[in-house]
Amino acid sequence: MSAKEKPSRESFEKLPDALAIIMDGNGRWAEERGLPRKAGHEAGAESVRAVTRECARLGLTELTLYAFSTENWKRPGEEVGFLMDLLERYLVQERKEIMENAIVFRAIGELEALPPSVRTELDRTREMSRKNGGMVLRLALSYGSRKEILRAALEIAELARKDPAAVESLGEDDLRRFLYEPEMRDPDLLVRTAGEMRLSNFLLWQASYSELHVTDVCWPDFREAELHAALRAYGERVRRFGGLLSDEGR
Ligand code: FPP
Repeated sequence: MSAKEKPSRESFEKLPDALAIIMDGNGRWAEERGLPRKAGHEAGAESVRAVTRECARLGLTELTLYAFSTENWKRPGEEVGFLMDLLERYLVQERKEIMENAIVFRAIGELEALPPSVRTELDRTREMSRKNGGMVLRLALSYGSRKEILRAALEIAELARKDPAAVESLGEDDLRRFLYEPEMRDPDLLVRTAGEMRLSNFLLWQASYSELHVTDVCWPDFREAELHAALRAYGERVRRFGGLLSDEGR
């Protein structure tokens, strides 16, 4: 697609500020083509590039990608090793693009579980992009929502031990302070590729009111056109957050 053909921000009915994506179907994409699963992950990394660039161009404020779940550690060692190598390569190669697009790079999850070489590159990319003013690109790595909520509960229990009064006054929104990244915005739109209708332990607390969009397209085929389709579908949603629209209920 040439720059001339790309849709403008104004051409969308409405755009989400924060988008989150469950990137699924790399393996199926490869199998359908008689290719090794690795080829699916490589092609998936290309989709990460294309989607990040387009979200930044359209002026979204946050993009959160489920890149590796706590459950993914159960995959064969060779595949886990390949995904970690791919992630490390991606982090090194994408730095130029991240800086050119003023992207702020972040990561959430049990990052201590990642190989030291990946953590080094993660820290470098985070540090380098910290003062950029553009879109936040956040990778969920070794991430599981139940673990995140358990950590929060344990921290609150610890606080209760030290300062019971501080806990009594906690409101619903205060739980945010104990999550991996308190500043993270709740996703307005949560997309899942490859057709499965589930959340798979991703952002269970943060996605309470997210609009959901599931497409049958496998992640390696999810590029600009599929992103635009998801954003246009979001534009047609009416968000009530459990309430009524002003002209309803009369
Ligand atoms: C799902 O495909 C995807 C993953 C396990 C992780 C996502 C990884 C990438 C997109 C690759 C690179 C990412 C970065 C950030 C460089 P699957 O293997 O579960 O597919 P399947 O369900 O069809 O087997």
